[in-house]
Amino acid sequence: MTLLSLCHLTASYGAAQALFDVSLDVAEAQVVALLGRNGMGKTTTVKAICRMLPARGEATFDGHDLLRLPIHRAARLGIGLVPEGRRCFAPLSVDENLLAAARPGPWDRARIATLFPRLAERADQRAASLSGGEQQMLAIARALMTNPRLLILDEATEGLAPIVRAEIWAAIRKLKRDSGLAILVIDKSLTELATVADRAVILERGSTVWSGAMADVGGDVAGLYLGL
Ligand SMILES: Nc1ncnc2c1ncn2[C@@H]1O[C@H](COP(=O)(O)OP(=O)(O)OP(=O)(O)O)[C@@H](O)[C@H]1O
Ligand SMILES: [Mg+2]
Repeated sequence: MTLLSLCHLTASYGAAQALFDVSLDVAEAQVVALLGRNGMGKTTTVKAICRMLPARGEATFDGHDLLRLPIHRAARLGIGLVPEGRRCFAPLSVDENLLAAARPGPWDRARIATLFPRLAERADQRAASLSGGEQQMLAIARALMTNPRLLILDEATEGLAPIVRAEIWAAIRKLKRDSGLAILVIDKSLTELATVADRAVILERGSTVWSGAMADVGGDVAGLYLGL
């Protein structure tokens, strides 16, 4: 069943239009990669979904009209965002960060500890003192603590050392395998995306220009739209 559906979505930063015609669907338990070169509108699409930016067109989540729902209700529909640039509350401890995000559901601190044992080891440490990779794990953990139905990862491995990156990808694969969570994932690594994504959507200058099976991204498609 379709969980998130965007159809001919447009969005602007003030007078500057950034999205012109974005359409994409994410079904329950499906992992969809949102692809496109720099500045093509991936983060803006995420902001529009999370109502951080005015948007027009059609956007539904679990049958609810995302664009016309009051923001406080839209925030409770179950979309967990890991934003670009790993935001945590730096002065709070790891545990406090998790508790501040907690909403009822299967994800609690014990389950987070099975996904990211390192966070459990650092439960009392201030978020500010964590490494970049650990902060990223904490950002993902915070999103999971909201017990979302859709997890959105915007460049979750950006700027991390290869070994930490591998840990994050392993966690994403585990999420797909064990939790059946729907995931919309933005990342530069097609190789890693190919290990988790079922489908892919490609944006170019604020519009959807291609969508299909992740297995079909490569060769001509990657050359044409991703400059690879
Ligand atoms: N705060 C802003 N104000 C005005 N224009 C913006 C703002 N943020 C992004 N834009 C513009 O919107 C367009 C889409 O940017 P967006 O950040 O969505 O791209 P992206 O696909 O996420 O790129 P990247 O891969 O670099 O993260 C770009 O032309 C960008 O310059
Ligand atoms: Mg971006």
